[in-house]
Amino acid sequence: MKNFLLASSILSADFSKLGEEICNVLDAGSDMIHFDVMDNHFVSNLTIGPLVLESLFKYKKIRYAKFDVHLMTSPVDDLVVKFAKLNVEVISFHPESTTNVNETIKLIKNYNCKVGLVLNPFASLNILNKFIDKIDLILLMSVNPGFPGQVFISSVLDKIRIVRNLINKSNRNILLEVDGGINKSNIFAIANCGVDIFVIGSAIFNTINYVETIRCLRNELKKVNFISRSVR
Ligand code: DX5
Ligand code: ZN
Repeated sequence: MKNFLLASSILSADFSKLGEEICNVLDAGSDMIHFDVMDNHFVSNLTIGPLVLESLFKYKKIRYAKFDVHLMTSPVDDLVVKFAKLNVEVISFHPESTTNVNETIKLIKNYNCKVGLVLNPFASLNILNKFIDKIDLILLMSVNPGFPGQVFISSVLDKIRIVRNLINKSNRNILLEVDGGINKSNIFAIANCGVDIFVIGSAIFNTINYVETIRCLRNELKKVNFISRSVR
């Protein structure tokens, strides 16, 4: 059975008790923690960086959790190194945020982290032709990057299907992740297009009971029809 992964985006967590919030969402069954890094330049919002992640490692549970870092900064390479040294699982970046996509990919790989390439909701998929053989994950944005709590852009569903086909044709083990506006009402439709990892922020952290919310999201995923999916 297909293993769908939930990556909780801490952008919607209560930052006054971030450590507790992350522990709670891990206890509730979140597979990964999605760490949105914004520099108020590449996107018009400012969040947190490697120093905060390092201090969160005081919690043993957090130190052993899988972190999925989404860099929305330009440049990116210095931050890649800082996060990689913290042994995060995935580092994803937007191709337009670096002067040399190949070099940034190599840098991430040097540290044995998974490399993710992020595409905005209306960005062309052409760039994948050039880099699909070099990356471990494709992160499709389903909202414009910058803020939590936005509405899922429905035209991204077609894009997900196209990227799923590209991945299958590549014969490589590339994960397909979608970020933005996902909730219990639309996760089923999104999953049916062939997604592996769902980034979810407000639809988890703006609820009272994370255990119940994650159970509800997983129940939706159990209904997904696997017949149309290719076995990888
Ligand atoms: C948006 C961020 C997302 C966002 C997701 O720029 O990359 O990770 O926080 O939050 P929700 O699930 O609320 O759309
Ligand atoms: Zn994100």
